[in-house]
Amino acid sequence: MEIPVYVAAAAPDDYAWCASLMASSEPWITLGRDLEACREALTRPGSELFVARSRENDLRAGFILLAPYGLAASPYIASVAVAAEVRGQGVGSELLRFAERRFAGRGHLFLLVSSFNHHAQRLYRRHGYEFVGKLEDYCVPGHSELIFHKGLQ
Ligand SMILES: CC(C)(COP(=O)(O)OP(=O)(O)OC[C@H]1O[C@@H](n2cnc3c(N)ncnc32)[C@H](O)[C@@H]1OP(=O)(O)O)[C@@H](O)C(=O)NCCC(=O)NCCS
Repeated sequence: MEIPVYVAAAAPDDYAWCASLMASSEPWITLGRDLEACREALTRPGSELFVARSRENDLRAGFILLAPYGLAASPYIASVAVAAEVRGQGVGSELLRFAERRFAGRGHLFLLVSSFNHHAQRLYRRHGYEFVGKLEDYCVPGHSELIFHKGLQ
């Protein structure tokens, strides 16, 4: 069953929740990102944080971190995560559609996904993202970051 959500720009008190979700989830655990590193990533210059909240109870369900000029001057999805208890209910898909609507007309949308994150790779492929390259041993030795691309109208 899908959870109806709305997506809005993060408020100051959303950052701690997003950082804690990130630091307690794969792939960031394997990538060695602790809470402080996640906090830093969420406030990096040139990025914009958006939070999905349930339309029913207004609880936070997930977030997406976007960089409008993040990769080769094209839009880039820097991070996306959904609270563990509401995964598999369409929130991640809604966050991807939000990014695609926001960057409509920009031509390209990129993201990186870890080589071991097969679940996320399948989700991105289902949404029309294609593998275009690989950064070997990029974040941690032994794992690659895969570059995925989707053409935007
Ligand atoms: C990847 C992620 C953002 C997807 O969000 P989501 O809300 O679960 O996504 P959706 O519900 O739209 O789709 C999830 C997919 O998993 C399936 N699914 C079913 N039950 C699930 C569950 N309990 N948990 C996760 N996925 C489940 C869905 O049917 C769907 O199918 P697909 O794998 O064939 O695409 C989320 O799983 C997550 O936060 N993972 C940890 C962080 C992460 O890997 N982020 C991506 C970094 S690049």
